[in-house]
Amino acid sequence: GRTVLTDALGRRISYLRISVTDRCDLRCRYCMAERMTFLPRDQVLTLEEIALLADLFIARGVRRIRLTGGEPLVRRDIVDLVRRIGRHVGAGLDELTLTTNGTRLAHHAQALADAGVRRINVSLDSLDPERFAHVTRNGDIRPVFEGLEAARAAGLSVKINMVALKGINEDEILPMLHWCDARGFDLTLIETMPLGETGEDRTDHYLPLTQVADSIRRHHALTPVPHRTGGPARYHAVEGLKARLGLITPLTHNFCADCNRMRMTCEGKIFMCLGHEDHVDLKAAFRQGGLPAVEPLIDRALRLKPAAHDFRIGADAAPAVRRHMSVTGG
Ligand code: GTP
Ligand code: 5AD
Ligand code: SF4
Repeated sequence: GRTVLTDALGRRISYLRISVTDRCDLRCRYCMAERMTFLPRDQVLTLEEIALLADLFIARGVRRIRLTGGEPLVRRDIVDLVRRIGRHVGAGLDELTLTTNGTRLAHHAQALADAGVRRINVSLDSLDPERFAHVTRNGDIRPVFEGLEAARAAGLSVKINMVALKGINEDEILPMLHWCDARGFDLTLIETMPLGETGEDRTDHYLPLTQVADSIRRHHALTPVPHRTGGPARYHAVEGLKARLGLITPLTHNFCADCNRMRMTCEGKIFMCLGHEDHVDLKAAFRQGGLPAVEPLIDRALRLKPAAHDFRIGADAAPAVRRHMSVTGG
């Protein structure tokens, strides 16, 4: 019979991240190269394929699904997909969430909420229009602000994701925390990870969050709280504020020992770790033999899960893996 997903080290895999497209309308410097080649559409799983695979993973004990990209909201049928997977929320699935850059959120926030999404993570590395344009290589911040307003109006809980970047947004971290607090958002800071060539040297902008936390503590005491969202963030209560501060520290403190996740790319590849190349490819098997052909591949994927990533940022450290975050889905 079917068993729940457990890897060779005994880690229960209950969280699936699905990248629904490798495309994005922005080009964040730490994420993508300026010129990207995206997959031809026939190599990308259809809505129905993603939905059937999601059903299977839920049957195998996945309790949380997060849709990512690229930018999930640039996929045309995204709301239909959310509705389709959203049927499981409260029955098999504890939550269905999205990570988005927010540029198209104003169009979709209410529909997402209606489809069973309760909470979204929105990437925002600066509040300043010019800096935002710099980080995203020409993005417009205004639709993101509108999207965040729409999310709030639709009753979605919002967490802002900010990649901490030395010399780029270091001085905006405290203002961002206050800005989030004023709007009822939480804030998660992220260390930049060496995934894919971007044409820039990540070392130049790497900022260890240990250092950032120390500088925040000069203004607000930080108290670790047990709150967990299923992801790697460790949360802190911030003295005087309601906003929680999450820290995602792949470089300064790896959290792999209790990793609970796997990833499916928009082409149907299963990666068991953001930082490793090992994967299994479900698409061909699925297109030929349907779900029964996929099940043994999932069991093979489980055996591929490494104990930990080995990200390093330093003098000659090449990217740990060649694919970009937008392929694996963060
Ligand atoms: P929740 O905890 O459900 O709110 O989500 P999350 O923080 O895991 O997801 P999100 O998509 O917002 O990702 C935030 C950052 O965490 C991104 O930079 C991800 O790449 C990173 N991240 C998520 N999961 C992992 C992981 O397993 N390993 C590593 N190294 N980074 C991860
Ligand atoms: N390192 C860390 N975070 C990254 N993100 C994209 N690329 C990287 C990287 N190389 C972040 C985005 C988004 C989340 C899904 O991943 O800013 O918030
Ligand atoms: Fe797009 Fe997100 Fe990558 Fe920025 S970080 S280019 S918004 S996928």
